Amino acid sequence: MKVVIPGGTGQVGTILDRALTAAGHEVVVLTRRPSREREIPWDGRTLGAWAEAVDGSDVVINLAGRSVSCRYTPANLREMMDSRVQSTEVVGAAIAAAARPPRVWLQMSTATVYAHRFDAPNDEATGVIGGGEPGVPGYWGYSVRIARNWERAQERAETPGTRKVALRAAMVMSPDRGGVFDVLSWLARLGLGGPVAGGAQYVSWIHDRDFVRAVEFLIGRDDLAGPVNLAAPGPLPQRRFMRALRAAWGVPAGLPATAWMAEVGALAIRSDTELLLKSRRVVPGRLLDAGFAFEHVRWPDAADDLVRRRRGAARTVRPGFRERATGT
Ligand SMILES: NC(=O)c1ccc[n+]([C@@H]2O[C@H](COP(=O)([O-])OP(=O)(O)OC[C@H]3O[C@@H](n4cnc5c(N)ncnc54)[C@H](OP(=O)(O)O)[C@@H]3O)[C@@H](O)[C@H]2O)c1
Repeated sequence: MKVVIPGGTGQVGTILDRALTAAGHEVVVLTRRPSREREIPWDGRTLGAWAEAVDGSDVVINLAGRSVSCRYTPANLREMMDSRVQSTEVVGAAIAAAARPPRVWLQMSTATVYAHRFDAPNDEATGVIGGGEPGVPGYWGYSVRIARNWERAQERAETPGTRKVALRAAMVMSPDRGGVFDVLSWLARLGLGGPVAGGAQYVSWIHDRDFVRAVEFLIGRDDLAGPVNLAAPGPLPQRRFMRALRAAWGVPAGLPATAWMAEVGALAIRSDTELLLKSRRVVPGRLLDAGFAFEHVRWPDAADDLVRRRRGAARTVRPGFRERATGT
């Protein structure tokens, strides 16, 4: 297959590019700063010569968007919104204009679209979309609006020859440097990986191999369209999530942090506490119904596997990936 990945230079794109290329597919990445073979320039906003790569491709997987690992200032939130909505609109326009449109367009979305809740898991059919939860900071609702507008931009695109799937992905855990597993592992190994604000908030996650397998599954299943949760079936409270990560690294204890301490820590690493404090309890209803079998269902087993791989052969890191992944 020919697979085009707009925004494919970051953490998730690196995982997909590596796996799909190894499986023998032709992968083309759209980026604002091409530096390697198979990378084509675009600006993420306007149609250009890059659209020729989409015409005649089999699959488009759009990952473009300003990193969410940043302070949620009004300017950054606006950029997070615009980069996602505009890139989705222009990818839709390229597909609509193609003489030979791709069979399927997988559009990144996020598990953050669901409400901050503890009582029950969110699947696609019964899950509660966020935005109206009482007692949470107002800007958390803006993150939900970003996700909804992002999905709406794909829904509105008129691409009758192309199946559209929105990937409501949880945190993708891979042993690569600069990704979320790397950051959490770093905290755990420093002895800082304890419960945050009590640690009752749920963490949804997906192992990188299952993420790739789910993407391949969705590419192959012509009967599946619309939003699909990409999350392991076993989300768990943050305190248990970090305890298992510490155990995988052989770190006996982790200092607990209050919400206030998390705020200071997030400020120090130029990130935002929403990423730590929002309860994301998301389960893969549609994938399981469709017969997808996860290889990593429980976090402790997944964490052991990731730590083993991280400790193994030195990883090849794409130039500049850490900077892009952390938004620095
Ligand atoms: N990582 C996760 O666990 C996870 C989970 C759920 C959802 N997501 C979403 O999935 C997508 C990919 O995640 P990721 O972790 O790979 O993100 P990432 O490392 O930040 O990469 C995103 C890519 O988007 C491009 N980009 C950034 N700002 C842009 C802009 N203003 N206009 C156009 N393109 C821009 C960048 O490519 P260039 O600089 O090369 O142009 C960058 O490599 C993101 O939208 C993220 O929100 C990620």
